[in-house]
Amino acid sequence: MNKNLFAENIFENKVAFVTGGGTGITGGVARALAENGAKVAIISRKIENLEPMAKLIKESGGECLPVSADVRDYAQVESAVRETVEQFGKIDILVNGAAGNFLCEASELSPNGFGTVVDIDTKGTFNVARAAFEELKKSKGQIINISATLHYAATPMQIHVSAAKAGVDAITRNLAVEWGKYGIRVNGIAPGPIEDTEGMKRLVPEPVKEKLLRKVPLGRFGRIKDIENAAIFLCSDAADFISGVTLVVDGGHWLNGTSFS
Ligand code: COA
Repeated sequence: MNKNLFAENIFENKVAFVTGGGTGITGGVARALAENGAKVAIISRKIENLEPMAKLIKESGGECLPVSADVRDYAQVESAVRETVEQFGKIDILVNGAAGNFLCEASELSPNGFGTVVDIDTKGTFNVARAAFEELKKSKGQIINISATLHYAATPMQIHVSAAKAGVDAITRNLAVEWGKYGIRVNGIAPGPIEDTEGMKRLVPEPVKEKLLRKVPLGRFGRIKDIENAAIFLCSDAADFISGVTLVVDGGHWLNGTSFS
């Protein structure tokens, strides 16, 4: 499933601002937006995590601006938005993909560990949406919040991420309602187990993978490409009347429960 399923250059003249856009799922989304014609700013705490993706996009003929900012720090986020607008003139598409994750039992997790993930995922999503609001209002733009399915049931060792992503889904719905009047669409994507990611390598040990696979009705793990395709669809005019939705892209996995085993 490598061929492009969409019309060429559907995001020509669009500018995307993608947090966490250097690596993993959101890195794929950033690259896919660029491949489909968007100019892309990618944002992460560490510039060295952005440089390989920026190089890849530029070598493929795209335009990419890597900007270092911590989504927990509103002043840094505002400055990244400013730099993007100075470089590319506007923002049409915001993808909130910056996230933190690790496995930890609730009984072992420190309050600061819980709060750190909520700060990155939930507060970070609000911070970036808030800082980009004026630009999105001008462009009648849209937001994609990268979520998860962990909180649809209960996923052991993921209380912090489950709480954080439940908050992200609430933000998706709230902003869809409050900002619809400006023509801004706000949606989410909830990836299931995606195999070609660092997260999957780190969070799902090899012996558990087989058990997990048996819980996916479509009989395979997801690929980053599956999330890219969902993002392109949601960002395209084909989704013009879709807002406030978190699209689950998991091969049906969560219907069999969200625990890893
Ligand atoms: N298990 C338990 N607690 C952990 C932890 C782990 N694996 N990793 C971090 N924490 C706790 C720390 O102990 C600390 O709490 P404390 O002060 O009570 O000890 C708190 O979380 C903050 O940790 P710190 O490393 O200082 O925060 P940070 O802001 O530098 O980074 C993360 C936080 C989550 C981003 C970091 O753990 C990380 O780099 N994770 C890997 C990258 C990632 O998650 N990518 C997303 C892939 S899905």
